Amino acid sequence: MLLSESAPELHINQQQLRAYKKQLNADFIWGVSASAYQTEGAYNTDGKGPSIWDTFTNEQKNKIKDRKNANIACDFYSRYEDDLLLMKSLGINNFRFSISWPRVMPAGTGEVNAAGLGFYDRLIDRCLHYGITPWVTLYHWDLPQALENKGGWTNRQVVGWFTDYVTVCVKHFSDRVKHWMVMNEPMVFVGAGYFLGLHAPGKRGMKNFLPAIHHAVLSMCEGARAIKAIDPDAEVGTTFSCSHIEPYRNLEKDHVAAFKVDALLNRMFIEPVLGMGYPVETLKPLQNITQYILQGDEYKMKYDFDFIGIQNYTREFVKHSWFTPYLNARLISAPKRKVPHTLMNWEVYPESIYQMIKKFDAYPGIKKILITENGAAFEDKHHDTLITDHMRTTYLQEHIEQVLRAKQEGAKVEGYFVWTWTDNFEWAEGYHPRFGLIYTDFNTQKRIIKESGLWYGDFINQ
Ligand code: FCB
Repeated sequence: MLLSESAPELHINQQQLRAYKKQLNADFIWGVSASAYQTEGAYNTDGKGPSIWDTFTNEQKNKIKDRKNANIACDFYSRYEDDLLLMKSLGINNFRFSISWPRVMPAGTGEVNAAGLGFYDRLIDRCLHYGITPWVTLYHWDLPQALENKGGWTNRQVVGWFTDYVTVCVKHFSDRVKHWMVMNEPMVFVGAGYFLGLHAPGKRGMKNFLPAIHHAVLSMCEGARAIKAIDPDAEVGTTFSCSHIEPYRNLEKDHVAAFKVDALLNRMFIEPVLGMGYPVETLKPLQNITQYILQGDEYKMKYDFDFIGIQNYTREFVKHSWFTPYLNARLISAPKRKVPHTLMNWEVYPESIYQMIKKFDAYPGIKKILITENGAAFEDKHHDTLITDHMRTTYLQEHIEQVLRAKQEGAKVEGYFVWTWTDNFEWAEGYHPRFGLIYTDFNTQKRIIKESGLWYGDFINQ
């Protein structure tokens, strides 16, 4: 497929990128990522129960940009066939999406909704029909509201509820799904949802944060064991958010602050999973987490995952701050630092993804790394039927180059998924930041391939 004349000029990075690509084995995985709540819509269709995001977007509207919700979103629930066809037309053969827990179990536990399973049956069957491998995330933040009413992630019973839900899904789909991710970015849903109150369910404070962390870790590992018990041949991973962290100034106190933020944002979930325990030596204010660790948990909170999904978008600079409780550290935003950034105000810094691969690769016990999300929100330019998004294309090229650089140096990175397939609902940011390779007109649900999508399809099929 040829790019239009207005495509970004070939520059040195692209030549390097193509040189790296040529040396890859054919089994390197290229794909795209999405999630249920951000795309499906059909929030109360065919027996689906409410999730914490349905409740949050309706009851705490002021926390969402333009008071939006994802009741309709991309209407992927009805339009998945067309979206898969489009995916196929670009030669994309790996699709990471999530299952909505309350669609499958409306009350979170107990009764299973056959119509909910039926939707994913159709989706998975059509993926396979088109030769697209499904990579299924079991939890991408949409907890059933009925379980939140009982404390959600702060209630230790969630471990059993989650494992039961995982068991239902894996028993039903394991004849067709061979690649699972237990969770999406636990640090983000626990941090933003149970400490900062910015995401659903909007809870705050250490008394919610600490138990939610521990129960998410237990659920992730127990969930993985449940998958393997049903299908020992399944490939089981989980995904973590991470950002390269730097001190703002070359001062001892900023170095200390950066070290703590690194422990919180990058180490808090992977280290217990690897059997290293929580990094509370570095994060003293989180030491109270030990009160939630019961006898026997030291085994339950470890799991030898087949792969770890890394999700990276940016780097962060950290400054010492007396006024920030617990951490005494604060992030200095990209606009404040006057560096190039996306519509999320995230700095564009491709080397961050390289640094993160190196960091995770250095842990003993990580067998394989996949980049399960990377991408950018920029303004798209419309010209009749064409949408140009050079900034996104360049962002992807420069990040993929860094991924392949790490691989060239021997890192165990085996795949890359773009966030995201179609423009969708970006959580507290509503519909403003568009991350898609495909433009979504939210009034008509029309899809238009952006130049970045053409480029990506072209690149991965060379
Ligand atoms: C990640 C989320 C994903 C999307 C991107 C931009 O943290 O996993 O759902 O919102 O950020």
